[in-house]
Amino acid sequence: MLDRLTAIPPDPILGIITAHAADPNPNKIDLGIGVYRDEKGNTPILESVRQAEQILDTTQTTKSYLGPRGVVGFNNAMNELIFGKQSDTVSGNRVRTVQTPGGTGALRVAAELIKKAQPEARVWASDPTWANHGPIFSAAELPMEPYPYFDRENSALLFDDMMAALQQRGPGDVVVFHACCHNPCGVSPDLEQWEAISDLAAENGFMPMIDLAYLGFERGVEEDAQAVRMFARKCPELLVASSCSKNFALYRERVGAVSAVCTDSEKAADVETVIHHLTRRNYSMPPAHGTGIVDIILHSEELTSLWLTEVTAMRNRINGLRKTLVERIEAAGIERDFSFLKRQTGMFSFLGLSVEQVRRLREEYSIYTVDSSRINIASFNGGNIDYFVEGLKGVI
Ligand code: LMR
Repeated sequence: MLDRLTAIPPDPILGIITAHAADPNPNKIDLGIGVYRDEKGNTPILESVRQAEQILDTTQTTKSYLGPRGVVGFNNAMNELIFGKQSDTVSGNRVRTVQTPGGTGALRVAAELIKKAQPEARVWASDPTWANHGPIFSAAELPMEPYPYFDRENSALLFDDMMAALQQRGPGDVVVFHACCHNPCGVSPDLEQWEAISDLAAENGFMPMIDLAYLGFERGVEEDAQAVRMFARKCPELLVASSCSKNFALYRERVGAVSAVCTDSEKAADVETVIHHLTRRNYSMPPAHGTGIVDIILHSEELTSLWLTEVTAMRNRINGLRKTLVERIEAAGIERDFSFLKRQTGMFSFLGLSVEQVRRLREEYSIYTVDSSRINIASFNGGNIDYFVEGLKGVI
């Protein structure tokens, strides 16, 4: 039976890891996958995570199953982190958050939830969106369609076109948004624009599905939750897929959560049972380690404040790199305007290169970007930024 299968080409993002690892060039740079790196090129374990892990190690007494809800303290803490401790959404018990294996796990559970609730639902996502969104929704038999978002010519938001397209959406439509640090283009609506988008969702009745993978990487942990909270205040229903991969640097521990905001507390309780049903038939029971760590951090004032300092440091480093990169590009005499890199946020931006230029960067300089020319800004450091600029100059 397995003989009928043929090879599938590597994933556009994950394939870069393998190609970069096999490259013998000592100057090689991996600007592919979205992981934070420090000045030495490492992805360190956060100090808050180390301390919480030690506490977990000394207090954990069993490895028995957790049950479908997982680490309940984690679920509750994520509820408050995302929706706000004082919010009506949390105090009115309209939201249920359940841990999932990473943000991808959350998206998949959310997609299955949508399919179960309304099999003919249509899912709309920004053009462009994270390369894995389409495959995740299509795995749940929900085809994904694009709405205008990124102005490739000006490296900016196509706000009016987006609003005009979303004006056509209504009940039965699910619209995927990136709450902050848009992946891949680094361009987000401002607060005023989020107000207009969330008003439109409430008026027209389409359901927002928010991908919250970079909480804290745009303006701050509280600030980056604002868009989600606006939708939760205005719309009767909302789904959120959140991730602790980046902001807690817990990538390989696979820590994420799916949150369902419903019309009232009873409906939210019903929907939680459906989430448990969906996860039971998929991975049965959730893992404990990563969510245990986040639970400890978010329930300790001291560790929370240490964690917030660490998130701020990661955000500041990325923003600093964005400025340095633009300065070095200008200093190298490259005439094309790359100043948009400074205005964008989060790990990612498009360089705006052709596939041919991306291929040359890879083959002639061992500089690896996604084919779309998306780069991970967090991969730059004092030791590689000038070599990158040299490569960029060489291909444009
Ligand atoms: C990325 O876009 O690089 C990250 O979200 C990691 C991934 O799994 O693709």
